[in-house]
Amino acid sequence: TGNPMIDPLSRPMRDLRISVTDRCNFRCAYCMPKEIFGDDYAFMPKDQLLSWEEIARLARLYASLGIRKIRLTGGEPMLRRGLPELVRMLTAIQGIEDIGCTTNGLLLGQQAESLYDAGLRRVNVSLDALNPELFGHINGRGIKPSIILRNMEIARETGFEVKVNMVVQKGVNDQEILPMAAYFKKMGITLCFIEFMDVGNDNSWSLQRVVTKKEIFERLGGAEELVPAAPRFPGEVAKRFRYKDGEAEVGFISSVSEAFCSSCTRLRLSSDGKIYTCLFASKGYDLRTLLRGGATDEELLAAIRGVWAKREDRYSEERTEQTALKRKKIGMSYIGG
Ligand code: GTP
Ligand code: 5AD
Ligand code: SF4
Ligand code: SF4
Repeated sequence: TGNPMIDPLSRPMRDLRISVTDRCNFRCAYCMPKEIFGDDYAFMPKDQLLSWEEIARLARLYASLGIRKIRLTGGEPMLRRGLPELVRMLTAIQGIEDIGCTTNGLLLGQQAESLYDAGLRRVNVSLDALNPELFGHINGRGIKPSIILRNMEIARETGFEVKVNMVVQKGVNDQEILPMAAYFKKMGITLCFIEFMDVGNDNSWSLQRVVTKKEIFERLGGAEELVPAAPRFPGEVAKRFRYKDGEAEVGFISSVSEAFCSSCTRLRLSSDGKIYTCLFASKGYDLRTLLRGGATDEELLAAIRGVWAKREDRYSEERTEQTALKRKKIGMSYIGG
């Protein structure tokens, strides 16, 4: 394993987010609004998806260039059949220190054991509300939070480290901040509050809908209640705090109010084999054509190096209400967050 690649803004390449499918069994309005992702929506045909072997080959090459952390995303990653096989291939790669999976949790109960057996140890479960009506409305499918909570329990009993992600939208679910915090504090589960971002082109984002990290921090009682905790990995996205009177932690992902592009070590691989060096990119680099055209490892490595060597993304640091509305971006369900 060689030296990490460094981009023109001095950022090493360390984390790879792999989207394994563009499909999802939820229809969150901020990600896959029903009006667009309806019954007749054309998802990616199967032959366009990278196979597990293709993904594992790329992951091996990435590891040789400095990638240490892999995150599996979607859409909903657990919808793609045989995910444990991919996990098994990825855990065998030398240099990969951490593999996580970001999921809505609906299929987590039934897959926890096979994923754990394959070597997965961490899952981040998205849950935006505890109120059943509200959560059913947000996920667009009437799914009850009790199902997700139960699946989280199964995952914990299986041995997983479970973290919860809550996307906070003012006027939609900000009244759930305190109930969510109280519930997961009691459970000893880390809850991460995510500032609502302007990803995609149709998620009805506006600055008014954002509840900032500072505001949530104050609502939780501020520095009286919370003490900063050290990051667990270099360039960790969430800023974490520990409750003074308990074991649990909370995190804040402040991509709008305090952008973290200067330490962004992430790269994304879409399910059809394109590389995106920013969550807000409008265009990817097509690796699949190379891959299926019979490229050698050397040729693929050269392509990957070339992309990182030119990477100057810092979208969240440059964001204004104007760029947020005007710029054409890639969809969240496609790129995987
Ligand atoms: P771990 O720290 O490994 O537990 O995971 P994570 O928090 O990096 O990943 P997760 O998939 O749980 O993402 C949480 C939120 O952070 C999501 O809303 C992501 O879209 C957001 N996020 C992750 N990486 C980036 C990034 O590079 N830029 C921006 N703007 N948001 C990011
Ligand atoms: N802003 C912030 N986070 C988002 N996610 C999806 N859409 C947005 C958005 N507009 C979250 C999901 C999941 C993670 C991958 O990204 O809820 O937790
Ligand atoms: Fe599915 Fe996650 Fe998008 Fe909701 S936010 S539609 S759960 S991929
Ligand atoms: Fe990285 Fe782009 Fe997110 Fe900034 S906006 S942290 S450059 S992915």
